[in-house]
Amino acid sequence: MKATILGTGSWGSAFARHLAHKWDEVAMWGIEESQVASINATGTNPGFLGDVRLPPNVGATLDLKVALAGAEAVFVVVPSQAARPVMKQVVATGAMPVNIPIVNLAKGLEIGTLKRLSEVMREELERGHDHHPLAVLLGPSHAEEVAAEMPTALVLAGDPGFDWEEWQRLITGPYLRVYTNDDMLGVEITSGFKNVIAVAVGLCDGLGMGDNTRGALLTRGMAELARITVALGGRQETCYGLAGIGDMITTSISRHSRNRNFGEAVARGQADPAAILQGSKQVVEGFYMTQAALKLSAKYGIELPIVKAVHEVLFEDKKPLKAIRELMERMPRSEAEPER
Ligand SMILES: NC(=O)c1ccc[n+]([C@@H]2O[C@H](COP(=O)([O-])OP(=O)(O)OC[C@H]3O[C@@H](n4cnc5c(N)ncnc54)[C@H](O)[C@@H]3O)[C@@H](O)[C@H]2O)c1
Repeated sequence: MKATILGTGSWGSAFARHLAHKWDEVAMWGIEESQVASINATGTNPGFLGDVRLPPNVGATLDLKVALAGAEAVFVVVPSQAARPVMKQVVATGAMPVNIPIVNLAKGLEIGTLKRLSEVMREELERGHDHHPLAVLLGPSHAEEVAAEMPTALVLAGDPGFDWEEWQRLITGPYLRVYTNDDMLGVEITSGFKNVIAVAVGLCDGLGMGDNTRGALLTRGMAELARITVALGGRQETCYGLAGIGDMITTSISRHSRNRNFGEAVARGQADPAAILQGSKQVVEGFYMTQAALKLSAKYGIELPIVKAVHEVLFEDKKPLKAIRELMERMPRSEAEPER
């Protein structure tokens, strides 16, 4: 079996390494010559996955048609805001094998439209009269740990009426266990949203705050996550699953987390948020998701105080300490109050 992976970054590389242990061939498609050349010449992707070695049945190419030829599934692992342009390119090749599943592994929403990435991809495919079963594969999965074969669990959520259980078996491996979930919308919303909470935790870590603060942010962040997920049509139980609280905890406490580390760097005043982002060669999805979440809170009339505070720090020049103090000084209320 051949899998095609769109994206040659950290997660694309770690996931390619995993799949290559089960599948005959894994073709990675990238836009950066140096990454493609390094994967082919040395089996490593140093800027993105250190000295981890990819098996010999993983190859990379700059040619999308070559990557797609003969694929039995396509996995999309590019930054969220690149999902649409990448899917446009895929459609334009006319080289997509008929009816194969497309699985998105990126976390976030499209800022301009507030659409989920599966919606964005479907729109582009339908524009090209291409129809494919779509799914997302999300959950707590730092690339570094998957590449080191540390036990990891993900959730596969896809279009109804397709045998995703077969794909669950095709993707699951000894250290990567895949669960299914039929709440695709919920899985997508929770996976994107948790990055905002991770940035908030990073801000507090950078200010030297403690574990009480983290506990409070994670719990109240969970309340915001549930509020927005349910308002958009997802299920509350999904928030308590791998793509919800599972990923929120992992991203918020991990030393590998770019979103948490980004918040910490902002709070330490290393530079302004946009400059810190420019200095990072890897995507920080929480930066974009904060903008999307604030727009959603206005659109659906949902109160999201942590999102608002993070937005003020990242985009409205508010000092992190002031934003956290203001969060604490909000009007007292009951823990169970819906805040709508
Ligand atoms: N790194 C992780 O541990 C991890 C785990 C799970 C999910 N994710 C999600 O996967 C997505 C990708 O993350 P990553 O860590 O691999 O990012 P990354 O920054 O390490 O790599 C991104 C890759 O996408 C490529 N890219 C950027 N714009 C592109 C475009 N327009 N067309 C084609 N390729 C483009 C870059 O060249 C790079 O190879 C993100 O949404 C992230 O949240 C990451």
